Amino acid sequence: MFINRKGLRLKGIVGEKMTTNTDVVFQINNISKVYDKKIALNSVEINIKKGEVIALIGPSGAGKTTLLNTLATVIKPDKGEILLDGNSIESYKGVKELAKKIGIIRQQFDLVGPLPVIHNVLAGRLKDWGFFKSLLSLVVPQDKDLAIRALDRVGIKEKAYERTSNLSGGEQQRVAMARLLVQNPEVILADEPVSSLDPARAEDILDTLTNLAKEEGQTLIASLHSVEYAKKYFNRIIALREGKVYFDLPADKVTSELLGSLYDLKELNENGKQKENIKNHLGETQADQNGLAQDQLVQNELVHYMKELKEDE
Ligand SMILES: Nc1ncnc2c1ncn2[C@@H]1O[C@H](COP(=O)(O)OP(=O)(O)OP(=O)(O)O)[C@@H](O)[C@H]1O
Ligand SMILES: [Mg+2]
Repeated sequence: MFINRKGLRLKGIVGEKMTTNTDVVFQINNISKVYDKKIALNSVEINIKKGEVIALIGPSGAGKTTLLNTLATVIKPDKGEILLDGNSIESYKGVKELAKKIGIIRQQFDLVGPLPVIHNVLAGRLKDWGFFKSLLSLVVPQDKDLAIRALDRVGIKEKAYERTSNLSGGEQQRVAMARLLVQNPEVILADEPVSSLDPARAEDILDTLTNLAKEEGQTLIASLHSVEYAKKYFNRIIALREGKVYFDLPADKVTSELLGSLYDLKELNENGKQKENIKNHLGETQADQNGLAQDQLVQNELVHYMKELKEDE
């Protein structure tokens, strides 16, 4: 890990090649993504090991969501590649196979409001169930005990049969975490999982989320706007700025000077340099102008089926 004289442009785990290390979950090799001449990700290199609990921070527009979406295969980088457990992420075919590996938790929870909590939790099982059994679970929740146990672990067992939309934001985020427990993926990607919650609830949720990941040995990568929470609940902090890794350090090595520079220097690199960067790093690559692709992950698919079924009733 190197720190220059000003303490900037740190090179931590960034750039180390760990191809032979079986502990590596994600190997992010020099990926870039451009939207309509705006560089969202610029030659990003990161290795992520099994069981790491990582906060992704940086100013608005730094590329946090774009990076998480490339890891979730929701969008494809224009350049570079991502290996998941040593294989190209593109080789994981279909939502079921991917759902065994990756779970997602979002700010807006992706829950079906009109359905009882327990059905939303059981949506995490789609990867194991056939379609028929998934639908049957709407009538007789399969593996009810599993769902109840998951709800118990996130502290809302008594809400199992309540209409999901009646729950508070914090409780709904707990439902989403219970669904992840049932899904039991190797990696959890969380894009601002607590930004819609008040500070006390946000801390509660982060505490639960990071502890569950640690207990389950799961890798957690969460984007956050709060550097305080990043330092308090996460082991490693990766800061992005203007699509690049700005620093990548153990949480206890992140100083207030570094954080100050991460956020304060935002204005310096606008327009002209952006264009130069596009030319240098992406050559002829066309920007993806179609916006974010549809999230293909498993929970959403079942959520959709459930919604349709509910509307047919
Ligand atoms: N679908 C899109 N179309 C065009 N530009 C996009 C699209 N998605 C992201 N961008 C641009 O890419 C850059 C990175 O965006 P991204 O959403 O990844 O940032 P972020 O770090 O998640 O920001 P925030 O903290 O505000 O969520 C931004 O400049 C953004 O405007
Ligand atoms: Mg974002």
